[in-house]
Amino acid sequence: MKHEKKILDLIDIINDHNYKYYVLDDPIISDGEFDNLFKELEILEKNFPQYKKSHSPTQRIGSSPIKKFNTIEHKEPMLSLSNAMNSNELFDFHNRNKKTLNQKSITYVAEPKLDGLGVTLTYSNGSLLHGATRGDGNNGEDITHNLKTIKSIPLKLRDVGKEIPTYIEIRGEVFIEKKNFLKLNKLQTKNGEQVFANPRNAAAGSLRQLDPKITATRPLSIFCYEAGLIEGELFKDHNSLLKALRIWGLPVSSLIKTVTGHTGLKKYQKDLEKIRNDLPYEIDGTVFKINNYKQREILGYRSRSPKWAIAGKFKAQQATTIIQNIEIQVGRTGALTPVAKLKPVFVSGVTVSNATLHNQDEINRKDIRIGDTVLIERAGDVIPKVIKVILKKRPHGSSTFTIPNICPACKHATSKSKNEAILRCKNLSCPEQIKGRIEHFSSKLALDIDGLGKKITNLLVDHNYLKSISDIFLLDEATLKSLEGFGNKSAENLILAIETSKKISFSKFVYGLGIKNVGEHISKLFEKYFLSDLNNFMNSSFEELESIEGVGPIVAKEVIDFWSQKENQAMVKECIRQGVKIEKKEFVKDQFLTNKTFVFTGTLKTFNRRDGKEIINRYGGSTTNSISKKTDFLIAGVGAGSKLEKAKKLDIKILNEQEFLKFVNLDPNKNL
Ligand code: IVH
Repeated sequence: MKHEKKILDLIDIINDHNYKYYVLDDPIISDGEFDNLFKELEILEKNFPQYKKSHSPTQRIGSSPIKKFNTIEHKEPMLSLSNAMNSNELFDFHNRNKKTLNQKSITYVAEPKLDGLGVTLTYSNGSLLHGATRGDGNNGEDITHNLKTIKSIPLKLRDVGKEIPTYIEIRGEVFIEKKNFLKLNKLQTKNGEQVFANPRNAAAGSLRQLDPKITATRPLSIFCYEAGLIEGELFKDHNSLLKALRIWGLPVSSLIKTVTGHTGLKKYQKDLEKIRNDLPYEIDGTVFKINNYKQREILGYRSRSPKWAIAGKFKAQQATTIIQNIEIQVGRTGALTPVAKLKPVFVSGVTVSNATLHNQDEINRKDIRIGDTVLIERAGDVIPKVIKVILKKRPHGSSTFTIPNICPACKHATSKSKNEAILRCKNLSCPEQIKGRIEHFSSKLALDIDGLGKKITNLLVDHNYLKSISDIFLLDEATLKSLEGFGNKSAENLILAIETSKKISFSKFVYGLGIKNVGEHISKLFEKYFLSDLNNFMNSSFEELESIEGVGPIVAKEVIDFWSQKENQAMVKECIRQGVKIEKKEFVKDQFLTNKTFVFTGTLKTFNRRDGKEIINRYGGSTTNSISKKTDFLIAGVGAGSKLEKAKKLDIKILNEQEFLKFVNLDPNKNL
């Protein structure tokens, strides 16, 4: 008992020091003293493992590597923000709010827009249940094992006066401070690993590790700024939520301020932009949110963003540098893109050494030449671009640049189609195109072959093991093991991943083929129309394709062009011969939910939102994230809050889970 108490006390003491260090930014002991406390706890836990607690700071790197990321459904969707590009657009935002709310003055909470990765942390009765990425907004990837390694994230909320909700989703941004980013890249270079292009990529790469031991070595930080679903304690405004987050021990930015009116918005925007480069981390703008939750509710949502908030964009950062060379990159569709190789230059915390030049027209328009001094711009995550040439600094004797009309990778002739500015390599066997196609085919939204990323794909194409997509299914362990960088385990894992990928839906397979203009959405339309039958799809005519609702002549032509290439038909047939099995999707004839719109709220117990959505889509209905006059049904789970109130007000039909299942004639005890 004595030892258990000692362990519990030490956990509290260490967690409290962590809180003082990370949240209050006011440590009261030295690092050495902290380490001693930590060691003392480790020894006690080793001697008395029966008293180990899940919220102990020693448990942060506890979990072993995971095999694959599981999906976590967000109980409230993680939305994006619409942008205000300038002061006028901020003005419009404020005026709209004033008008809709019929108010003369409005209070906003002004925050920095952190340039990291949006995550959500779910606490159940105060304990960290799981953490996830944003994903598509409705479902994210389970990265609990990695988030737990971030020392500023409490494993248990501090229970000190402010009531803790039974269930809460907390949104925040994970990022890496500029100085830590530079240190990390130095270390990567030293260890012969690839360096990261910017702090945001470094943070993303760190959170996408299967092994939390690697994540634990990365200097990740977090600031929290919103809540999703809250069960129990409800807040009246955003400031009260932020205050509670701080009390519970979550890091919240100290740059957050309350401002009023358009002048308030403008001033915060200007002040923050001024100090942006002096901040220890990267921000790419501001976020303005209505403080009062009742007002937020009145304003409501667009399909993917709230009307009560806006992101104030900063001007893109610019710098001058020299174009040392122009290289031609070949994409998976054969497109030749000229890329300026720059003398490395530091722009908003990042070293930039490449800029896209788009195409020949762009090069001509700006008269860009090798050796030129140019003004470049980098905005957020966008590839840097050349704004203009500083002609005064042009060296004597320079000459104009013309993209060669042979492919730099395979030396085949290139050509330009009528309405395009882009030159393309038409050789389907061009190694650079093959690399791009295979990378796309194995990507997450297509066959999702874990372990077949850019690096491995390049290696396999360069060694001539992959000449076409279907060659993936001919790979074997022995071949992989003979290659540098492959061990027994990684070879085994890749073969397993390839094997698993063979069972695939029509839409993912077709998306993976990389037909121009055929994205995820169009692939799904084809899946439905051709009833998951590849042969019918391959043999369809232009007229038939064009007749499909949502498919236009451009897409139809691309599909016809794709199948008119014998190699493509042969490649797909070879995939099937090698064991690829297209899973047939059942389409229900009775589309009795056509034109009906559903919204989910609260926690569902018998099925998750993804399944619910699938059922609704199956019968022709659709789902959205927010209640409006156009909503037909609200499916309300446990803990339903503001959406339920709004639905009642608008006289929208409300169904609980069981009522919904009955409505669609499904037995909750059977497989959905
Ligand atoms: S609020 C409904 N606040 O920006 C409001 N987002 O474009 C959703 N972000 O996915 C988010 N700083 O990852 C909010 N202070 C802040 C933010 C912030 C950065 C990111 C976040 C979100 C994206 C939206």
